[in-house]
Amino acid sequence: MVRIGCVDGDGIGPELMDSTREILRAAAELDGVELSFGQESGGAGTYLATGEPLAPGALERFRTDYDAVLKGPVGLPEVRKPDGTEAGVLGGVLRNGLDTFANVRPVRLLPGVPGTAERIDYVLVRENTKGLYLSRGSGVRNEHAASDQLLMTRAGVERVVRFAFETARGRRGAPEDGVRRVTCVDKSNVLRSFAFFRDVFDEIAAAYPDIEAEHRYTDAAAHDLVADPGHFDVLVTENFVGDMLSDLGAATVGGLGMCPAANIGDAAAYFEPAHGSAPGIAGQDRANPISQVLSAVLLLEHLGLAGTANRIASAVESACADGAIRLTGGVPEGGTKAATAAITDRL
Ligand code: IPM
Ligand code: MN
Repeated sequence: MVRIGCVDGDGIGPELMDSTREILRAAAELDGVELSFGQESGGAGTYLATGEPLAPGALERFRTDYDAVLKGPVGLPEVRKPDGTEAGVLGGVLRNGLDTFANVRPVRLLPGVPGTAERIDYVLVRENTKGLYLSRGSGVRNEHAASDQLLMTRAGVERVVRFAFETARGRRGAPEDGVRRVTCVDKSNVLRSFAFFRDVFDEIAAAYPDIEAEHRYTDAAAHDLVADPGHFDVLVTENFVGDMLSDLGAATVGGLGMCPAANIGDAAAYFEPAHGSAPGIAGQDRANPISQVLSAVLLLEHLGLAGTANRIASAVESACADGAIRLTGGVPEGGTKAATAAITDRL
């Protein structure tokens, strides 16, 4: 029995999670895999109801009662704390609480989807527990000024860089020239913390002679991810930079609705779309379910269920390739339910 803990989240979260559970159930049945879904409440709605963004005890249950966690998007722009930050986002609670240090964001252009290049297929590995985001909740502000602090630690950089090289070794996709590579994205030309990141990257890279190691400054990386995305294989970077570059990458492959994410630690993992809760289109059967569904694919892969993962990934691909799912402005033409049915039909 594979036990999946679900956090349906806010906005379009519940409808995306319903779609994904439907697809997971159908695929698991075909493969004779037994799945169970537990429900934990989290997000802005939970915060409004209870004063906390996650149900009491949920973090502990994620570690002990479930094999992995599937999370919908959370947060609502109007639900804010007195300091002005959003109250319903779970980044700090889950990423730091579960110590999921690697945020793995595959950016892949699926057949039939209009992208900005012929071929786009790379993985962005975003450091997930430190960097600028570690300042959440502890930055200072007054009427005249505000400041947040960015932290890199040797152990923190080492583990995420190692993770990026292992990802490159184990990856099926390859860049255009077939050369396995990891690109370190940093701003070491200006900031000491990033110079430290780059030095630690170089030390770890020496242990992976089979994989090309290269550097890009953050601004050049943003340029090249648009101008020459086929060059990239695996990229590794700081938390906030990774946040921005993953949305940039999404824009090149059909939008945020195409991009899944895996938050991986040594003792826990959770899976979520890289996008937000899009409250403006919630409940209208308009959201693209693909990033949520592909997040479930990453979950299955993580649990060693490669057969079921491939079954779902192939169904998503063929639904896109044969035009059963067609996106206009990131929205599936027939709606969320029709897109879900198109995937289920192709399992
Ligand atoms: C993401 C999201 C989150 C982040 C938000 C919702 C706090 O944008 O997972 O990329 O910034 O990390
Ligand atoms: Mn983001």
